[in-house]
Amino acid sequence: YSIDSTMSEASRLAAKGAPEGTLIVAEEQTSGRGRFGRHWHSERATGLYCTLVLRPSVPPAVAPVLTLVVGVALAEAIQDVSQIAVDLRWPNDAMIHEKKCAGILIEMTAEPLRVSHLLVGIGINVNTRQIPAELAEEATSLLLQAGHAVSRLELLISVLKRLEHYYNRFLEHGAADLIKRFEEISSYARGRRVRVADGANVVSGVTEGLTPEGILLIRREDGRIEKVLAGQVRAA
Ligand code: BTN
Repeated sequence: YSIDSTMSEASRLAAKGAPEGTLIVAEEQTSGRGRFGRHWHSERATGLYCTLVLRPSVPPAVAPVLTLVVGVALAEAIQDVSQIAVDLRWPNDAMIHEKKCAGILIEMTAEPLRVSHLLVGIGINVNTRQIPAELAEEATSLLLQAGHAVSRLELLISVLKRLEHYYNRFLEHGAADLIKRFEEISSYARGRRVRVADGANVVSGVTEGLTPEGILLIRREDGRIEKVLAGQVRAA
């Protein structure tokens, strides 16, 4: 019902050997976390906060692409349940009308050649009526966009069904066609003027699609193509 973070609980369970597919869902998080060590606003009973334990037999370098696989499942599920068109902002944000409605956080425990487990955290602002003032410019909820409440249970079921489908496809066939699907959904993947900040390093330019490994390509002003492995993308 109330937990510090579903990531922390999943991590505790995974360390004790929780099997692949273990899912932690919370009604409220007191220390929800996002990327770059940020706080994730997790108001009681309005959002969907969950973490899934995965144990894929892949090398650690393959794991980041899984964020994109999860993103595709998430965008389709939100669209399916709320009937609103969803955009994806590389690598991990689900957007509606340029505002973020959901985020993905992947935490990995690995040996040099093998992933031990991955924790896939998903946070969706579902029936949030009031976005905190400090987030209002950047964030939104499905209720605010659709004008009606959305069933969190239906949404969770849809996310899990699609995630299972795409995860199995990724394990069997690799990520190439899922990356193509990400590019189809995402207005950010190609031809979009962006600014990407990764710590002190900032890259500006126009997006040029994704590599087969899910790396974002950016054409800089001087024509050079930059490969972006990680960072915070913003429309410029
Ligand atoms: C981001 O966009 O920065 C990622 C946000 C991920 C939030 C979810 S909510 C469920 C899970 N538990 C957490 O503490 N974080 C993730």
